[in-house]
Amino acid sequence: MPNTSTVSFSSPSNIAFIKYWGKFGRQLPMNPSISMTLSNCVSKCSVEFELDSNHIGISSFEFEGVENQAFRARLEKFLVSICDIYPLANKLSLKIKSENTFPHSAGIASSASAMSAFCACLVEIEQRVVGGVENIDQRISMLSRLASGSACRSVFSHYAYWGESRLAQLKSSNEYALEFHDFHDSFKEVMDSILIVSSEEKSVSSSQGHILMNGHPFKDARIEQAHENFTSIMSAMKTGDWDHFGEVLENEALTLHALMMSSYPSFILLKPNSLLIIEKVRAYRELTSDPLYFTIDAGPNIHLIYPASHAKSIKDFINTELSPICDQGRVIHDSIGPGKIQLQ
Ligand code: PMV
Repeated sequence: MPNTSTVSFSSPSNIAFIKYWGKFGRQLPMNPSISMTLSNCVSKCSVEFELDSNHIGISSFEFEGVENQAFRARLEKFLVSICDIYPLANKLSLKIKSENTFPHSAGIASSASAMSAFCACLVEIEQRVVGGVENIDQRISMLSRLASGSACRSVFSHYAYWGESRLAQLKSSNEYALEFHDFHDSFKEVMDSILIVSSEEKSVSSSQGHILMNGHPFKDARIEQAHENFTSIMSAMKTGDWDHFGEVLENEALTLHALMMSSYPSFILLKPNSLLIIEKVRAYRELTSDPLYFTIDAGPNIHLIYPASHAKSIKDFINTELSPICDQGRVIHDSIGPGKIQLQ
């Protein structure tokens, strides 16, 4: 009789305010980053495991009900790569089922949510089989980092930061993310409305982008700037200074894309409508003084960040002015969320 059990977790995507761009060593970040954990853009992962079976490794991987060999191979490779720090990988047979609550073709990266959900399952399995795992969230975050850098921040509720900072009073690590608790009440309920400018596959992956930072002419300046922006945005979040927060947020987004445009080879992920949206957001802010700011991931879609207290007027603006210039009018309204959750 096979002796199998199942664990499952959901875990969300996150949007970086200060961007992780460039890495070294074993998936360690070139600079500190901080992100907001989302609530609706979530992956659910369920893992049936068996110890010491005839087949070690991943015997099947179903994505949204369909066997997916490419994802299976990617996870198998990841498991082999972490054998030294997760020795159970050599003893387990896994059947994995994964699904996303957000549309596959929306151009929203799912590696952070999918990998953190999977790593949360791995650590729960370790706890059940071996026991005695201390600092569970830290361990999930560390494994998630090895799977996909920014995934390490998805584990935590509200806001998470990752990477050694220069702030003496702040505990920080390159190995795992930590939750950022010290924020003002006005940062408790925050929205992220994601404007889908294009849902095409990206022409350049973030892994390629990280590599290009190695010989980048602005590398040292970027590291300096990221540290300054990190300190500055944390202090704005602490005091509730939305104006200053927004200034740094937008500077980070545009810097990320400026770094891509000025690398060798160069690449441009923004589309004409990404720029049109930015102009419209800035004009709206000028006119209304509403705290509405944008950030951008490594793609053309625009994330609008604002306090939930202003949701009514801002959503009206999005629906009338911005949605018509999105791909098929698509906007995903998301908000700050609780991080990974155990389902089974
Ligand atoms: O985690 P990766 O390797 O997909 O890199 C993510 C990079 C950005 O999304 C652009 C920034 C970030 O900090 O999330």
